[in-house]
Amino acid sequence: MPGVIGLYKFRVTQDQMSDIKSEIKKEVARRKTFAIISHPDAGKTTLTEKLLLYGGAIRLAGSVKARKANKYAVSDWMEIEKQRGISVTSSVMQFDYSGFCINILDTPGHQDFSEDTYRTLVAADSAVMLIDGAKGVEAQTIKLFHVCKLRGIPIFTFVNKMDRASKDPFELMEEIERVLGIRSYPMNWPIGTEGDFKGVYNRKLKQIELFDGGEHGQSQVSSTVGKADDPVFADLLGSHYHDKLCEDIELLDMAGDEFDKKKIRSGELTPLFFGSAMTNFGVQPFLEEFLELAPSPGIVDTAEGEVDPESDKFSGFIFKIQANMNPTHRDRLAFLRICSGKFSKGMSVKHMNTGKEIRLSQPQQFMAQERTIVDEAYAGDIIGLFDPGIFNLGDTLFEGNGNVRFEGIPIFPAEYFARVTPADTMKRKQFIKGIDQLSEEGAIQVFKQIDIGIEALIIGVVGALQFEVLEYRLKNEYGVQLRLQNLPYRHARWIENEGLDPRKLNLPSTAVIVEDKLGRNSILFENEWSIRMAEERNKELRLVDIATQD
Ligand code: G4P
Repeated sequence: MPGVIGLYKFRVTQDQMSDIKSEIKKEVARRKTFAIISHPDAGKTTLTEKLLLYGGAIRLAGSVKARKANKYAVSDWMEIEKQRGISVTSSVMQFDYSGFCINILDTPGHQDFSEDTYRTLVAADSAVMLIDGAKGVEAQTIKLFHVCKLRGIPIFTFVNKMDRASKDPFELMEEIERVLGIRSYPMNWPIGTEGDFKGVYNRKLKQIELFDGGEHGQSQVSSTVGKADDPVFADLLGSHYHDKLCEDIELLDMAGDEFDKKKIRSGELTPLFFGSAMTNFGVQPFLEEFLELAPSPGIVDTAEGEVDPESDKFSGFIFKIQANMNPTHRDRLAFLRICSGKFSKGMSVKHMNTGKEIRLSQPQQFMAQERTIVDEAYAGDIIGLFDPGIFNLGDTLFEGNGNVRFEGIPIFPAEYFARVTPADTMKRKQFIKGIDQLSEEGAIQVFKQIDIGIEALIIGVVGALQFEVLEYRLKNEYGVQLRLQNLPYRHARWIENEGLDPRKLNLPSTAVIVEDKLGRNSILFENEWSIRMAEERNKELRLVDIATQD
C-alpha cells in the first residue's frame, strides 16, 4: 500500500496542501477535549447530561442516567456492567456547541474506579472538577486532581447542588486551596447558601442571575438577569441578601486573586463556578465561559521534538485498551488520542513500536451514546481502533517518515493487592495468558514477590471492583477459576535508585519487596506511616508513587 499512498501524495498540489492545512488549523482550534473529575454522587452524570442537552446530542435529560441505571440497549457491554448498572469502561462523548467540537472523556468514578480513570486524564487538555457544595473536596477528587496537577492542565471548578444547603463559599475556597494547593477565582458568587438559594452574581458581567427553581433540568431554561445595583434586585432579593452579596463581592474584589488567564491556562488558578446541574442553573454560562477559557489541543513535547497539533501529519498515542468488548468476537479496542493532523478512514500510519505500516480501516467514534464509524477526525479527538493484538498502552502511531514517540503512559499507584493463583493448577497456561492480557490493557498491575517466584503473583489494582472484573474475565474469557487472597497492602512505591539492592534495605516488617512486570524494584506498604519509616531508616532511598509504562 505505501506505493499508492506515495502516488497520492505526489498528486496533492500546493493549493490542496494549503487547503488541508487551513482546514486542520480551523478544526483543531474548535476542539475542546476535557474530563470531568469528581467524587461519586457529586453530580457528574447529571452535569454530563446537561452539557449534552445543550449540545443537542440528546433531546431529553435522563438518557445518560438511563444508561447508568442499567437500561443498556447495546448488548456488547460486559455482563458485569449490566448486572451492576455501572460503566466499567470509560468512554468518550463528542458533540458540537456554538461552533466548538467538544469531547468529554468519561472517567469512571464509582466502585469501578480504576487505572482507566487516571489514564483517561492523560488524553484530556483540561479538566472540570465537580464538587458537591455541601461536601466540599472529597477523596476521589483529590486523587484525580493530583494527576491533573502533575500534567499541568487547566482545571475548572463547578460547585454543584447549590439549590440545597451548602458550605459557606469562602470556606469552600479556603478548602480548595488548603487541600488541593490551588487558588481559585470565583466567576460567579452564590446568593443564599443555607437551602435558600436565590441565584448568583456574575462577576464578569456584573449582573445578578436569579434562580427560579428550573424545570428540574428537563430542558434549557432562562434566568432573570440584571445589574447588581438595580433596585429591582434589592427588592426582589430583600435587603438581607442584597447587603450580604454586596459585602461578599467587595471582599472578593479586595482580598481575592485577580482573574489571570495565564494562571488558569497553567493550572495555577481555577475558575470557580457555582450552580446546580439538576435544576440546570448555571450550566450554560459555565459551558460558555469554559469554552472561551479552556485550551484547544496544544503542542506536545516528545524526545524527538515538538509535535504541533496543526501539523498536516497525523500522530497520536494509545491511552486505553479494552479487550473483548463484544463477547462474540474476541476483539480488542484501542483508544487513540489524536495529537496532530487529520485522520481519514483507511489511511496508513506507522506503528512506532514495531515499525510496521498499519491501515486504519474501521475506526470508531463515540457520539453521545453509540459508537459509529468515523471518516475524519482531528487533533483532540479520540478514536477507537480495532486492535489485532499489536497495540500496547502508550504506543505511538504517526503518518510520514521520521520518528515520533509520545511519552509513556504512567502506571498509577495501586491501592488494593491480592495474591492470585489458578484454582486448578492444570490451567496455569491460560491463567498466565489472561493475566498478561489484562496487564497489557493496564487493568491490573502484576508484581512478583522477590525470592518466591512466579507462583506467587501479587496483583495490584486501583479500585477494589477490578478484582471482581479480574475474576469474572478470567473465568469467562479464559476458563480459569481464581483463588484470590486479599493482602493488607495499600501503597506501591517504585525504587528510583539504580543498582540498589532492596534486600539490603532496613524496612518495616510489614513491607514486602516486589518486582513489577518490567523487572523494576518496588515495595508494597500497608500504610503511609511505614513508607515514612522506610525513608527515615534508609536515607539514600528514593521512592516514587508513579512509574512510566516503559
Ligand atoms: P455522579 O454521576 O457524580 O455519581 O452523580 P449523579 O449525577 O448520579 O448525581 C447524584 C445525585 O445527586 C442524584 O440524585 C442527582 O439527582 C443529584 N444531583 C445532581 N445534581 C444536583 C443538583 O444540582 N442539585 C441537587 N439537589 N441534586 C443534584 P439521586 O437521588 O441519587 O438520583 P435521582 O433519583 O435524582 O436520579
